[in-house]
Amino acid sequence: MKKIIVAIDGFSSCGKSTMAKKLSREVGYIYVDSGAMYRAVSLFCIQNGWISETEINAKELEKNIESIRIEFKTNTEGKSETYLNGKNVENEIRTLEVASGASRVSTLGFVRQELVRQQQIMGLEKGIVMDGRDIGTVVFPTAELKVFLTASPEIRAQRRLDEMALKGEKADFEEVLANVKERDERDQNRDESPLRKAEDAIIIDNSYLSLEEQQQILRTLFIEKTF
Ligand code: DC
Repeated sequence: MKKIIVAIDGFSSCGKSTMAKKLSREVGYIYVDSGAMYRAVSLFCIQNGWISETEINAKELEKNIESIRIEFKTNTEGKSETYLNGKNVENEIRTLEVASGASRVSTLGFVRQELVRQQQIMGLEKGIVMDGRDIGTVVFPTAELKVFLTASPEIRAQRRLDEMALKGEKADFEEVLANVKERDERDQNRDESPLRKAEDAIIIDNSYLSLEEQQQILRTLFIEKTF
């Protein structure tokens, strides 16, 4: 069986990471959540007071971009967790504030350049499943399997709300929906690597698919590409 690169792109809260993680476990590939890397940069800005409602201190961020070290480590339960400069930030990066900041820092060219560089190094030996917004278009344009995952904004907002409820966090549906739509708008319309489907990506709309149904589709595609 040949080793390939699997690129999973799509809108926020579509279930990309659930799908990517599951496949990576089944086939023994490395899993990389590229969104977590943008979230870690956002958290770094928040920690340093470089981000406000209206502005990002891009100058300071650019000066320090190379001092941001992002790693993924597998915990005792086999779950991949994000580390920022040696500290486990997996929970901290999942807040709405950090998500909003991530969507903003991801519009900066120098941030994208640095993170894409790190992501390409992670994929040098293939055998990797990476999810994000520009994986099939920019990070790995020659990936053997590209999937573009989509679902309606309302369904994505509800899923996000359920996810937060599981962690004991409360949020308002309209607020989460507005956040989802705001991020879609920014992700699709930024100048730097806007979210779009790669020409050779396969679309999966999972609005009305069960986890098992969508996983079965992905499994079949993976088998087709590796044999
Ligand atoms: O997938 P996510 O919600 O964790 O991503 C956080 C933000 O990072 C999101 O607004 C889009 C951005 N992002 C990006 O621009 N490129 C990627 N490859 C991954 C995420």
